Amino acid sequence: MKYRFGHPYVTGAVVKEIAAAEGVPAHFTLSRKGESVTLSYPLAKEDAVYGLGEQLRGINKRGWHYENWNLDDPVHHEGRTGLYGAHNFFIVCGKECFGVFLDCGGRVSLDIGYTDADLFTVTAQDFDLYLFEGDSPLAIVKQFRALIGRSYIPPKWAFGYAQSRWGYKSEADIREVYEHYEKEGLPLDMLFLDIDYMERFKDFTVDKTRFPDLKAFTSEMKGKNIHLVPIIDAAVKVEKGYSVYEEGVKKGYFCKDEKGKPFVVGVWPGNSLLPDMLNPEARKWFGSQYKVLLDMGIEGFWNDMNEPVLFYSEERLKNALALAASTTEITCLDDYERVSHTFFGLQNNDGDYRAFYHETENGRIVHEAVHNLYGYNMTRAAAEYFEQYTPKKRYLLFSRSSYIGMHRYGGIWTGDNSAWWSHLLLNLQQLPGLNMCGFLYTGADLGGFGGSTTEELLLRWLALGVFVPLMRNHSNLGSRPQECYRFTKTNVFRNILGIRYSLLPYLYSEYVRCAFENDMLFKPLSFVYPGDARAKTVEDQLLVGDSLMIAPVYTQNAAGRYVYLPERMKLIRMKAGDRFTEHVLEKGEYYIPVSTEEVVFFLRFGKVLPLAKPAKNTAALDEKNLTWVKFIEAPTQFTLCRDSGTSEIKKGDFETVLLEP
Ligand code: NOJ
Repeated sequence: MKYRFGHPYVTGAVVKEIAAAEGVPAHFTLSRKGESVTLSYPLAKEDAVYGLGEQLRGINKRGWHYENWNLDDPVHHEGRTGLYGAHNFFIVCGKECFGVFLDCGGRVSLDIGYTDADLFTVTAQDFDLYLFEGDSPLAIVKQFRALIGRSYIPPKWAFGYAQSRWGYKSEADIREVYEHYEKEGLPLDMLFLDIDYMERFKDFTVDKTRFPDLKAFTSEMKGKNIHLVPIIDAAVKVEKGYSVYEEGVKKGYFCKDEKGKPFVVGVWPGNSLLPDMLNPEARKWFGSQYKVLLDMGIEGFWNDMNEPVLFYSEERLKNALALAASTTEITCLDDYERVSHTFFGLQNNDGDYRAFYHETENGRIVHEAVHNLYGYNMTRAAAEYFEQYTPKKRYLLFSRSSYIGMHRYGGIWTGDNSAWWSHLLLNLQQLPGLNMCGFLYTGADLGGFGGSTTEELLLRWLALGVFVPLMRNHSNLGSRPQECYRFTKTNVFRNILGIRYSLLPYLYSEYVRCAFENDMLFKPLSFVYPGDARAKTVEDQLLVGDSLMIAPVYTQNAAGRYVYLPERMKLIRMKAGDRFTEHVLEKGEYYIPVSTEEVVFFLRFGKVLPLAKPAKNTAALDEKNLTWVKFIEAPTQFTLCRDSGTSEIKKGDFETVLLEP
């Protein structure tokens, strides 16, 4: 059922037309304050709330308040109410079971038992609400996913291991990282280029002194089966003679203020303009800019700073500077605070998001009303151009900011996390919510982006990362270097990365199946064992695909951890190569010893797992000679996806293998 409130901007998240019904959606009571609509639902004791995609806190979202307003703030502490994505889909499951998608380009606030522990309220302006009824959370997810269209499938090489860092400044730096990986026999598929490859942070330019011939370098690396993946930022530098700037201004493709003047903001390149990603022509134009890099042989991109980030707006900065200049003396704390607040308040200021406009197909609209759609449309711009550039070819594309609908065009990474143990757990807890919202290709910065990682933290994080589609180690400028060769136990890193490649036939096949069947690759235990009250409380284990359960270690100095087995399972230990040990455990609670030198997981009863030999990259993976781990008592099938890995997947690309006990 669909209900309309106010005059929503059509976001494009939904791919099927549904007529809006009259009245108040079932389950809710409604109140209005000005333009705002609040829907309230009384939470029963047994109700859990799932979803919200890339949000903070646990798998069950009950007990906190959330603000879906895409924001760049690199400190993801527990007190935050949102991150870079607005994913307004949730399921209430307990006394009743239903799902809601609030399709709204603006701010959405959700108070899930925060103000009143037994009350759930959702507040927004101008939105379409979709209500889903079903017997189980998974049935609701499948209905929702069918409504929003098939999830993005990247090329197969994008499932390989990726090394990244803000701070690789030149071809020589990238080459050095590659050489270390090569010399140490550490598997690798991708190396990422952060903003320093550009000429003074100008999109679609290459700094010729640091990357004298990016085309030749890309091709040389491709010859070694390594893909270079450059970053693209949302804002375009203001600079005379810079063609992207000049052309965009001439054609009126940048966001403008109330008076129709381009709205100047500050990002990495200094004064910049924001391409109007919601103007269909401007979006097309921005997408076509990727050609420069595609022509150099680049086949993957990450879109950044597209919340969009405003370090400042020109106008607000001018006023702040004037205030500072006129403040010649600080005589009391108030004087100091007035000045400091003005400067601290420059970044991502709400007032600035109200001060510029988009020219959409339905006329001019203030940014605030469609803020959460910006990163989505930047990514859509790129994806639509790639399809035009080489139809049916699969490119790697993921974004920091996102909205539901973008899952059809690319993946996301979860932004600037920290080298904190709690963020390893957060990484796990975000995965089911993201999958519910269609984002299957996702990953966190392994090891942590900010702060100083440790060998132990990185190894534990990689032991989760081996199961996650985007397996990328990325870190901040100035943080402790965290490439896998920087620590003492290089052989352990080699083994763990190798295990990722052994798991790839399973992970890739399950990923593709989940995309086609609108399934979740990562499920909370409660979705699979609905009658099991203990399963409902598990916040640190997940089902991965149809066969596996994972329970990563996420605390410092741990020798293992407690694991709940909701049914009989086989404990699998992998240390090196595709070798493993197996051990049957009955349903129950266990303390499982897990060293940092192994990957431990569980095979469900009635299921099988294909394993390949570790490989140095996806191109070298031998998928013909698989070892099967089995926990079956009757013949069982598994469907492998054996496509080219780079073009459209067809029916004939699947091979169903029959396994005997
Ligand atoms: C912010 C991104 O989140 C981070 O991953 C990147 O390294 C920096 N921007 C610099 O481009």
